[in-house]
Amino acid sequence: MEFCPSPAPLTLPIDEVHIWRAELQTLHSLIPTLLPLLSEDEQARANRFYFRKDHDRFILARGILRVLLGRYLDLPPQQLQFQYNPTGKPLLNSQTQLCFNLSHSHQLALYAVAWNRDVGIDVEQISLERDYESIAARFFAPQEQATLNQLNPDLKLQGFFNGWTRKEALLKAIGKGLTLPLDQFAVSLSPGEPARLLQAAWNLPQSLDEWTLQDLQVGEGYAAAVAAVGKDWQLRGWQVDAEVLMAIG
Ligand SMILES: CC(C)(COP(=O)(O)OP(=O)(O)OC[C@H]1O[C@@H](n2cnc3c(N)ncnc32)[C@H](O)[C@@H]1OP(=O)(O)O)[C@@H](O)C(=O)NCCC(=O)NCCS
Repeated sequence: MEFCPSPAPLTLPIDEVHIWRAELQTLHSLIPTLLPLLSEDEQARANRFYFRKDHDRFILARGILRVLLGRYLDLPPQQLQFQYNPTGKPLLNSQTQLCFNLSHSHQLALYAVAWNRDVGIDVEQISLERDYESIAARFFAPQEQATLNQLNPDLKLQGFFNGWTRKEALLKAIGKGLTLPLDQFAVSLSPGEPARLLQAAWNLPQSLDEWTLQDLQVGEGYAAAVAAVGKDWQLRGWQVDAEVLMAIG
């Protein structure tokens, strides 16, 4: 999937999941434009970040989210009201059937948007600094650990990040956060193998084979995946650029 400049007008057919990719460092100058779009509680949250970079990243990521969702709903971004489920997943109010999720890592933010379809997205910067073997030993299912252990050493890091992002995208789509034990469901992770949910010990809101996982190629040094309900959807990718954001209604 390529990330193209977004068309105007923007339409989202019910059988599509749209992925937006934003390089936050290139959009930094838009912070003063985006800040007033945030609600009071979002601005208060931004001010509670200890580090400036986290403060700025939150404003950018949340401001972009508002602009994008506003475009789909044909509403001014500042009019959107978010609610949060018990584990903190932001949602639009229950009358709005637009589903979304976002993830950020380092300077990259990704957004998934779909009509009436639970979606979850995760991006991680691939970093050698992480002690991935102990993370896998702690959080991966036995089946995933066995697959990882059998990979050639030069494929293990990619395999680990495939597993991590696919697991987290699914958890984020379900919206129950880490209340669901990570080692009690398994995804495919071998490089080159399609992303799939292999088994789950707990009851999902939908049956196992109603979920689809897909990898996203979002740039050198990152791994990313999206999870969504259903088999009947396809991905479209759009790049967030300053022009899209400046066209704010
Ligand atoms: C939400 C969570 C699941 C992911 O967090 P993360 O990887 O740190 O962060 P991401 O950038 O991918 O996602 C954060 C965004 O997801 C959304 N989010 C928050 N809670 C969520 C939830 N329960 N479900 C779905 N989305 C959620 C928010 O929009 C949040 O962005 P914001 O804080 O700017 O509003 C978090 O609860 C967490 O604890 N993650 C760590 C999981 C872990 O150890 N994974 C190992 C996998 S093997």
